Amino acid sequence: MFAKEVYMRRRAALLTKLQEAGESGLVLLLGNAEAPAQYKDNCYKWRQDSSWLYFIGLDEPLYAAVLDIDSGREILFADDVDIDDIIWMGPQPSVASRAAAVGIEQSAHYGALEECLKAAKGRKVHFLPPSRYFNTLKLEHLLPGVQPSTPLIQAVISLRLIKEDIEIEAIDHACALGYEMHSVARNSIVPGIVEQEIVGKMEGVALAKGWGVSFPTILTQHGETLHNHGHAAVIEPGRLMVIDAGVESNEHYASDFTRTYPTSGKFTTKQREIYQIVYDCNQLAFSLTKPGVTYREVHLATARKMLEGLSALGLVKGDLDSMVADGIAGLFQPHGLGHNMGLDVHDMEDLGENLVGYDPDQQRAKQLGLGSLRMARRLRPGHVITDEPGIYFIPALIEKFKKEGLGKNYVNYSKLESYYNFGGIRLEDDVLVTESGARRLGPKRLPVSPDEVEAAMAAARER
Ligand code: GLY
Repeated sequence: MFAKEVYMRRRAALLTKLQEAGESGLVLLLGNAEAPAQYKDNCYKWRQDSSWLYFIGLDEPLYAAVLDIDSGREILFADDVDIDDIIWMGPQPSVASRAAAVGIEQSAHYGALEECLKAAKGRKVHFLPPSRYFNTLKLEHLLPGVQPSTPLIQAVISLRLIKEDIEIEAIDHACALGYEMHSVARNSIVPGIVEQEIVGKMEGVALAKGWGVSFPTILTQHGETLHNHGHAAVIEPGRLMVIDAGVESNEHYASDFTRTYPTSGKFTTKQREIYQIVYDCNQLAFSLTKPGVTYREVHLATARKMLEGLSALGLVKGDLDSMVADGIAGLFQPHGLGHNMGLDVHDMEDLGENLVGYDPDQQRAKQLGLGSLRMARRLRPGHVITDEPGIYFIPALIEKFKKEGLGKNYVNYSKLESYYNFGGIRLEDDVLVTESGARRLGPKRLPVSPDEVEAAMAAARER
């Protein structure tokens, strides 16, 4: 947790933003509750709601808070433990002392929340879209028929999007742990073992040094499946392995890196050719990332670079700008260049992808690829985003395009057939937008150029 002044300042900034937007009434913030996996006492791993963590910081289940926009009064709602709880959980700090630790003067038992909201009748109650069903049901009970507050969502997004120095430090730390986890993974790749063995080792790092992984690990020789969570395959020589994984630190900030490795330690010529294109796109995106540019423009510039590389290999042909405009890059990269990152690996997407990732004057495209761009905004210092281009050969998608005559003037379908067993490549770094440009987060960059990757794998195999 940060110092109490951090949470007090954030809550004051939230209320000021709402006042400036002409809003009044109450803000209701809900922490998460435990979620049973099978029976009540066997729960999924505990994870607090991220907006709650941002404004209140208390990492305990079944807490709520009400902030009065007009008077500034704040009340924390939760129950003190009783003797039954103490038997199972040990003694716990009182709710009042926890409230004081985050600068809230008044506290009450959890059930008093309902009375507090009833007493506020006639006043507007602002709340965020709940990320968990427990809170969906709670809100339906407390405030039947009331919808989440767009002014509150916008105020929260505007604060959380621009990372404070202490948050950047926390994300740098999560990236340091991510670096360590990915290094263990890369050094463990050996044909003959099961993918799961690597997953176990790398997630061990995340658990030993942080809260755990920031999302379910993607580790697969079928990189063409963008989010492949199956890890049962035996590692075969000559394949490509995509590892997309991140650590969530004990402070609950995320990292999210992707690297793609040749399982034999050396790329084949064909693999290296495609890898080089993805690497060039990643480098280009970073070089273009600076305040004032939109990430949509950066996405489109990398799409053009990708098509230029694929054109040189004879996989597509035609005018590059027309191919970009016609969405041909989406056949090879059916996802966006990146997303926001912070307390969530896809930061705040529970508040609405478009509200988080798009400026009011931007429209989300429908095209494959560009339509999945989760962060399109005009960049500002303090944005933390991912730079993750990829090229994937997805036989079913290529066949669909071919059958429907899509891109028939551009795409060399017969040549593409020899890539049906290729898999996919993605390369991802986490990037902070600075006053003058951008900085990759973390103490060191994971080996990424084809030569660096081969050298790192050779060094691991010599040890
Ligand atoms: N790195 C996983 C994702 O961005 O969804």
